[in-house]
Amino acid sequence: MAKHLVVYTSKYGSTREVAQAIADGLQAEIANADDNPDVRSYDLVVLGSPIYGGDYLEPIKNFLRGNKPLLAERKIAAFITAAAHWERDPGLTGEEDELLFTQQEYAAGLANLTGGETIDCRGFGGRMVPEDLDDADRGILEWFYRFLMRKPLEGFDLIDLAAARRWGEELRETVGD
Ligand SMILES: Cc1cc2nc3c(=O)[nH]c(=O)nc-3n(C[C@H](O)[C@H](O)[C@H](O)COP(=O)(O)O)c2cc1C
Repeated sequence: MAKHLVVYTSKYGSTREVAQAIADGLQAEIANADDNPDVRSYDLVVLGSPIYGGDYLEPIKNFLRGNKPLLAERKIAAFITAAAHWERDPGLTGEEDELLFTQQEYAAGLANLTGGETIDCRGFGGRMVPEDLDDADRGILEWFYRFLMRKPLEGFDLIDLAAARRWGEELRETVGD
């Protein structure tokens, strides 16, 4: 049995793909946060969530709330997926920039919520396909693009599975197998 576990949440599947690539590199098991996996037999727990409206998705927060004492005794790594290009869009004013944490800060924040020993954190680019979004999400993003980015809603695909796999391998080198 693997000594490491990747626990993720994902609404439209991109974070699940990144989580799987990390788990492959780390030679870890993988579980959806909704399944509330038992973390007791794992040395390192890697947590992953996409960023929605500047926050983590509820299932990973729920998992953290329910497992805090166990996670506090483990080695922790955390990753997030996000729309990286929003943060370096030259059309953003300084004021709007301040509203957007960096990917690294989001990932570090997720690890900090556990109280465990943080090994490493990483932000990855995600993916957004306008046609896949439910009505509520499309409405939010159409507003965001129109009023803050001043352009029509457009999708992006920043997924880099090779980079995710490499990070998994790096984690394995750091904590051993
Ligand atoms: C409604 C909505 C809100 C989002 N909010 C943010 C955000 O605040 N910051 C950001 O960097 N990316 C944001 N994103 C981009 C997502 O983090 C990105 O598309 C991610 O890859 C989605 O993960 P999933 O496919 O696992 O659900 C948002 C996407 C949607 C659809």
